[in-house]
Amino acid sequence: MKKQIVIAPSILSADFADLGNEVRAIDEGGCDWIHFDVMDGSFVPPITIGDNVCKAIRSHTDKPIDVHLMVNHPDTQVEAFANAGADIITVHQEACVHLERTLQYIRSLGKKAGVSLNPATPVSTIRHVLHCTDLVLLMSVNPGYGGQKYIHAVTDKIRECRAMLDEAGCDAWLEVDGGVNVETIEEVAAAGADAIVAGSAVYNKPDYAAAIAELRALASKAG
Ligand code: DX5
Ligand code: ZN
Repeated sequence: MKKQIVIAPSILSADFADLGNEVRAIDEGGCDWIHFDVMDGSFVPPITIGDNVCKAIRSHTDKPIDVHLMVNHPDTQVEAFANAGADIITVHQEACVHLERTLQYIRSLGKKAGVSLNPATPVSTIRHVLHCTDLVLLMSVNPGYGGQKYIHAVTDKIRECRAMLDEAGCDAWLEVDGGVNVETIEEVAAAGADAIVAGSAVYNKPDYAAAIAELRALASKAG
């Protein structure tokens, strides 16, 4: 069955000094999930926010918090984010030596388990963990920063991943993250994505609700 498209604004581009209000604004503005980017200064150069901030925003929204762990040794963070109220916890394939075990661990804590791939990492690397995957997050920029340009070579990879999920009978969400905006979202949705992360395309606009509605309309038209 075809899923409704999910719009997940990334709070990476929000005003961190006013995060409670920034989260409430996208919630009231009609988003589906809150995308929460965690960076450790090692897997990617910047350091952003951790489980304590996740806990702090939990009381500002009832919508799912979609945690994207761009960190090395993600197993050390999983339980803290589960306790902080995360709903989906996504780890990078490139950061996991025992990926199947990590995904099972996330599920054992009652959370949805996601796996993310950098642009250069082939889709085939997750073929054998689909039985314990609830979400695949394809990066369409090299992770680390908001506001980068969409890498068009990833569009073929979205198609390939869609085909792999369908063939395996896996109903995991196919989420795409990086450089998705009004210019690129139709290409992304048409290729088979059913969850879209948008940081600057929402938070750099004056009217978040209007930005979310426009992205949703374009994605629904194409998807
Ligand atoms: C990048 C993060 C993204 C980022 C997206 O490393 O994982 O979630 O915030 O930002 P935009 O939509 O501005 O590319
Ligand atoms: Zn992200």
